[in-house]
Amino acid sequence: MTHSQLYPLEVNPATAEPFLRLPQPNENIIITPPRLSDAQCFPPILNDPHVGQWLEGPPIPYTDEHAAEWIQIITQQSKAILDELTAEDTLRPGGYLKLVGGCPVRHIREVLPDGTDVYLGDIDIGRAPFEEILDPEERRKQVEINESKPLGDPSIVWTFGGESIYVPSNWSPTGFPDYIAPSHHGRGIMSAAMRLVLHSWAIPRMGVRHMSGYTFVGNAGSARVFEKSGFMLKGVLDNGKTVRGERKRLNYLEWKCEQQ
Ligand SMILES: CC(C)(COP(=O)(O)OP(=O)(O)OC[C@H]1O[C@@H](n2cnc3c(N)ncnc32)[C@H](O)[C@@H]1OP(=O)(O)O)[C@@H](O)C(=O)NCCC(=O)NCCS
Repeated sequence: MTHSQLYPLEVNPATAEPFLRLPQPNENIIITPPRLSDAQCFPPILNDPHVGQWLEGPPIPYTDEHAAEWIQIITQQSKAILDELTAEDTLRPGGYLKLVGGCPVRHIREVLPDGTDVYLGDIDIGRAPFEEILDPEERRKQVEINESKPLGDPSIVWTFGGESIYVPSNWSPTGFPDYIAPSHHGRGIMSAAMRLVLHSWAIPRMGVRHMSGYTFVGNAGSARVFEKSGFMLKGVLDNGKTVRGERKRLNYLEWKCEQQ
């Protein structure tokens, strides 16, 4: 059987928007590309201390201007991947599924009984920032080497939250933007979303075989989410990171694909 290059994404017949659907009991939760209208939802969630205190990347207080800049960046990233897949379908209909450098769906939404949906959060995957390498020059070198490796190289190290390459220059250079709105914490949504993105897209469509994960020490919920996707806690790091004036130690987790 041949598949479109979007496989295994489903496509909403009314809007043509691709999506992944979480399994039961969260089948009313979908992950889609970002939409320009999502920008207004970012500040209230990111400025909530239940979310903002655990994130490195976004500036806090997070303003409408930050949101307007960010939504442009991520909608373009997602569109570039979808355009690449559509072009491949045109060029080689029914051809082998090609590897791409990112996941075109990242925004987590709850679909309501009337069919409308509500923005809940974000899950992104990108190349790793090597926080575990304490020497800044060595770390910079490893990031550069990792980013220069061609797609499909199984030695590429990835991470959930790869915003390091794309943040505007006056923002923090790295960060892990995965989050869920506080109203929906503790319902198993991020655990299911991480497993879904990993197994349905990252492994088969990006060739991901090795990942690292980082959370601030004290963020037990996030560390548990990683562990539930098969990540192992490798240790606690202090690489001198200071976020909004506070010294932060990091939990460092690692995942390796069983079928190399
Ligand atoms: C961390 C976060 C993404 C988890 O998302 P979620 O959808 O609420 O997580 P889940 O419901 O899938 O729960 C995951 C596990 O963590 C546990 N957990 C959640 N919060 C916890 C806490 N404060 N302390 C201990 N365990 C916690 C849950 O019990 C569950 O484990 P279990 O299934 O073994 O019981 C969400 O809480 C969040 O957005 N936090 C703020 C931003 C953030 O920390 N992002 C990650 C940065 S690295």
